[in-house]
Amino acid sequence: MLEKVKAIKAEIENFNVKNQEALEAFRLQFISRKSVIAKLFAGLKDITPEKKREAGILLNNLKNTAQKKFKELTAQLNQTTKEVEACQEIEDLTLPPPADGIGALHPLTITQAKIVAIFKRIGFNVSEGPEIEDDWHNFTALNFPKHHPARAMQDTFFISQDPEIVLRTHTSSVQVRVMESQQPPIRTISPGRVFRNEAVSARTHCVFHQVEGLYIDTHVSFADLKETLFYFAREMFGQDTKTRFRASYFPFTEPSAEMDINCRICKGAGCNVCKYTGWVEIIGAGMVDPQVLENCNMDAQAYTGFAFGMGIERIAMLKYQINDLRLFTENDIQFLKQFVALDLSFPALARANKREKI
Ligand code: PHE
Repeated sequence: MLEKVKAIKAEIENFNVKNQEALEAFRLQFISRKSVIAKLFAGLKDITPEKKREAGILLNNLKNTAQKKFKELTAQLNQTTKEVEACQEIEDLTLPPPADGIGALHPLTITQAKIVAIFKRIGFNVSEGPEIEDDWHNFTALNFPKHHPARAMQDTFFISQDPEIVLRTHTSSVQVRVMESQQPPIRTISPGRVFRNEAVSARTHCVFHQVEGLYIDTHVSFADLKETLFYFAREMFGQDTKTRFRASYFPFTEPSAEMDINCRICKGAGCNVCKYTGWVEIIGAGMVDPQVLENCNMDAQAYTGFAFGMGIERIAMLKYQINDLRLFTENDIQFLKQFVALDLSFPALARANKREKI
């Protein structure tokens, strides 16, 4: 009997299970009512009373060993199954990671396309020019004589001093190029990237985007300028948008003005975007100074014109309630994803954005 128990114990201890069937085989062999151990228990009745006690202890030990092992084997099998399942889920480890959705147009691209589309509807075309510009087109032709204090209004990045080459500080430079190469009537807008030596903060950046507009013809008046900008503000921000003009100064326009709209964020109640005034400035504008027309070989007696300029970032911030300029350049997917839905009109945006090179 002792020998038999020893053999069974060794068998139990060496038992390995790879699957559910093997575990069931173990159960039948060592745990069930018909197991070898149950049979040994049944044989106890034939043993003499003196030896019964000892044999009983022996068999009980064996039974405990079998039950403990069964628990271990069950736990082990569960663990293995989980691991196998996890591996099966991964399938092919050499596959590229899943793509994070489709891309979206950048909010500045969307805003620029909207601005361009609004002006195209009233007969403006689109002109482009270089980002690296000479002094004449960025400053001198626009009535900023050398050493004039107005140059300090625009903190300039210089590429070289002699000849003076700069990163354009505004896209008014494109308008000079248009005036030099075309005759009135001229109705054009120039969207593009501009550069100013400013510290990067929530409100200012050293690289930003503008759309500037120019209209030159006979009898163009300040009333035309106002009506055009009213129209733009209402198309961009909604028909209930209010506007106001304030007198201002730019070297290339006379008279000059800035246009404010009522704050779209607080609706006039006062917030930090409008600095609690209820109004935000969006556009600089004015009647083109006759001197600028002459600089560009245009007959200042025959023609008048207006010009205006706006920052695309500013318009996008007001339109989409974005409170920090830096978000536009940080490439944060969470931020950019919010504009995916605005892509629905993508073909129209793409068409509106088609450029006419000069
Ligand atoms: N060029 C000006 C700027 O960048 C804006 C402007 C354009 C003002 C046209 C008046 C007329 O600040």
